[in-house]
Amino acid sequence: MLWFHPVLMGITNLIGFYAAYLGMERFLSQHMGLRTQFLWKRHVFVGWTAMILWLGGMLGGLAMARYVWQVSFVTGDHYETAFAMVPFILFGAATGFYMDRKKARRKLLPLMHAVCNLVLLSMALYQFSTGWQVIKDFVL
Ligand code: HEM
Ligand code: HEM
Repeated sequence: MLWFHPVLMGITNLIGFYAAYLGMERFLSQHMGLRTQFLWKRHVFVGWTAMILWLGGMLGGLAMARYVWQVSFVTGDHYETAFAMVPFILFGAATGFYMDRKKARRKLLPLMHAVCNLVLLSMALYQFSTGWQVIKDFVL
């Protein structure tokens, strides 16, 4: 049962990469003057999927820790990084939601959205390393 969360989060990180790839097409056309095709609706769908799974997986990890070990907040760097991700998830999702609802020519907000979500993706990748430590210390 303890493998469900790591596998789900690995898949979620791949989905996050795909969202970043789709966003990069927009970045190249808006800021680099290149001719690219931005799959807007797909980016929004894939982006939401990653955000919801990151948040849901975090709650799932906490729930599993409590269920199996009767305690949460025991994994040091792993849960601390997870908590540090929360404000980035909220800001990334809020700015994305707003830009999707109110379409306009913008420069700064998409850039802030991009930087926020790339930091978020880096933290999610770092969770492979901290998560592997959890597996070595508590599971194996
Ligand atoms: C709730 C999820 C998300 C929504 C609703 C969303 C929505 C959007 C929208 C509407 C744009 C176009 C903005 C514009 O040019 O006016 C955009 C751009 C972008 N998004 Fe997202 N997004 C989401 C998640 C993500 C994620 C997870 C990543 C990366 C890991 C990401 C990376 C980017 C990038 C790099 C751009 C281009 C920014 C620029 O041109 O400066 N987004 N997003
Ligand atoms: C990508 C984002 C991730 C987030 C936000 C996240 C978040 C969390 C949280 C909040 C907990 C509860 C910890 C505690 O109560 O001390 C947890 C547990 C755990 N995490 Fe993660 N995690 C992520 C990725 C990973 C990855 C990639 C791995 C494995 C390589 C992993 C392995 C584990 C393990 C083994 C547990 C123990 C409970 C369980 O297996 O369900 N996590 N995680």
